[in-house]
Amino acid sequence: MIRDHLRKGSPRATVGPRLALLLGAVSAVLTAGCVGTSCPPVAAKAGVRQARFAPLRQTAATAKRRIGTALMSRHLENARLRSLVAAHFDSLTAENEMKWGATEPQPASFSFAAGDELVAFAAQNGMRMRGHTLVWHQQLADWAKDLPADELRPAMRRHIEALVGRWRGRIAQWDVVNEAITEDGKLRDSPFLRLGETYLDEAFRLAHAADPEARLFYNDCGIEAGEGNTKSDAVYRLCARMRQAGVPIHGIGMQMHVDPRHWPTAEQIRKNVERFAALGLLVEFTEMDIAVGEMPGSLPEKLQRQRAIAHDIVAACLHVDKCTGITLWGASDADSWLCTERWARLRGRGPHYPLAFDADLDPKPMYFGILDALAGR
Ligand code: G3I
Repeated sequence: MIRDHLRKGSPRATVGPRLALLLGAVSAVLTAGCVGTSCPPVAAKAGVRQARFAPLRQTAATAKRRIGTALMSRHLENARLRSLVAAHFDSLTAENEMKWGATEPQPASFSFAAGDELVAFAAQNGMRMRGHTLVWHQQLADWAKDLPADELRPAMRRHIEALVGRWRGRIAQWDVVNEAITEDGKLRDSPFLRLGETYLDEAFRLAHAADPEARLFYNDCGIEAGEGNTKSDAVYRLCARMRQAGVPIHGIGMQMHVDPRHWPTAEQIRKNVERFAALGLLVEFTEMDIAVGEMPGSLPEKLQRQRAIAHDIVAACLHVDKCTGITLWGASDADSWLCTERWARLRGRGPHYPLAFDADLDPKPMYFGILDALAGR
């Protein structure tokens, strides 16, 4: 309202310099909070011709990699988006609908319908399904947050058995535990830590018993930088310990949420992938997106930088045999968590245009960066 008033009239002329200054400041705050969260179409601005373009999944298959995206079931109502996803991606992750809060909102009362829809869509379109995520401190059902250890332990068992059992044989990979390590390399003080420091081992063993064929991943963000990075090193030690103890952990999920203000070099990422692979683990890039808001330059320049970063990330995966797939955290800018009022500010000033297809579902330079890297160019 204040902004409308400022736009229409000339308060500075009538209210005096001090009030005008105050109104100006309020307007600036409102603007900073609101502008820059949504991500309108950009492909044309970036000079991309609206022509036919190659399906990413075909090129990925030639490189023996999976290329994936994350969706919510409501996205499936959009017919154009369904076709785009089916054409380009051969791996699918449930963005929110397999999380604890969504699947077991009340104790022992399960809600599988949304997850079922995604699993069915994946099957219909020859896509591999990734399950996300069984044990996470966020989006955990309220009822589970304050349980004492002797109640949380059976609750965790029931939850894992129910979800992994429900989709046994249909979910190829599970993110069993998500984001259990903090930036300073400690086990996070999550409700699950009440079960003791080896709660991760328990979770992996339960998931393995429920579906011995599913490949089980530890998934985390901010672990891409590799040796010398506190969090990356802590996750490396955690995985090494679990492997040594015979815990059925099969892979590491590196999320790849790129914040250009703090991002490692391509060389660092490659070496990091190599060291986790050397533990005998599969590597997946599970949640890639690249926020451009804080990059310097014009929008076309930012989108070219985004293309180059995407290319480097995909090339790092192709460099190591055990890196089996790359998943983008969403299909188009229109549906990205980083284009919402709530989350955009995490990456500084937006808009962030974080994905490979714009809000009109046209390919952006980032799409061509991914395609080129998959093709080994
Ligand atoms: O479901 C409610 C809906 O009922 C309500 O009307 C609406 C109003 O805001 O909110 C809906 O919940 C939102 C939910 O996404 C589903 O859309 C939450 O507010 C929103 O906070 C939530 O954000 C998700 C976020 O995880 C929560 O932690 C993002 O979509 C999702 O992309 C994001 O994904 C995480 C990965 O799971 C783990 N790694 C980091 C990644 C990004 O944060």
